[in-house]
Amino acid sequence: QEGLPLSGKKVLITAGPTYEAIDPVRFVGNHSTGRMGFELARAAADLGAGVILITGPTHLQMDNPSITRVPVVSAQEMCQVALDYFDEVDVVIGSAAVADFRPKTTSDSKIKKKCGGLTIEMVPNPDILQTLGDRKEKQYLVGFALETDNELENAKSKIAKKNLDAIVLNSLRDEGAGFGGETNKITFIDKNFNQKPFELKTKAEVAQDIWTEILSRLHA
Ligand code: PMT
Repeated sequence: QEGLPLSGKKVLITAGPTYEAIDPVRFVGNHSTGRMGFELARAAADLGAGVILITGPTHLQMDNPSITRVPVVSAQEMCQVALDYFDEVDVVIGSAAVADFRPKTTSDSKIKKKCGGLTIEMVPNPDILQTLGDRKEKQYLVGFALETDNELENAKSKIAKKNLDAIVLNSLRDEGAGFGGETNKITFIDKNFNQKPFELKTKAEVAQDIWTEILSRLHA
């Protein structure tokens, strides 16, 4: 579509959780549903962008001709797909709740129940945004920060660590914010530490607010 704010632009969005396999039946995961990322993708398409939506396991459906959905399972897969597309995109938003750790080994067969419990050794996953931040040229790179304490401080330190242009803070201390649900409450923080807090809104409205903030900086 021509004449829209994101016409001719390509956007990459990560959404949902990642699952890190323990054995063929078990995994380590988290509570992300993908909703926030799906709304960001829809809003970008409405603004005229072509969207690559990389999704961890989620039940959400996406049927939009401007959105190419690439399903993945683990953080390592999500990282590889993001790298595959990175050179061709203008804006990246990392809304996925990526597992920071994965089991060191994945058993080929179901681990049997034993007395005395089970200890699983975990190793660090690649940080997807940091990997992209390190090789960033023209891309506008936006992260999310899901915090439980020292929210602003932690969010700001992620901007520097991952070489981001902005970060969207949501706190699990705010009622109606974060995982699941239809709503979220965010503060948009850019790399100059300009902060804009928003009220509790639907995730569709939050997505529009995020794009308004990004667009005002893209065109500046
Ligand atoms: O999916 P919903 O149910 O709608 O929930 C939305 C949400 C709460 C998942 C979303 O709003 C959100 O906060 N997503 C980021 C969650 C998260 O993992 O935050 P973090 O502070 O741990 O990570 C910081 C940033 O680095 C995030 O952009 C994350 O995608 C990215 N990251 C983290 C770890 C990693 N190994 N690679 C990454 O790229």
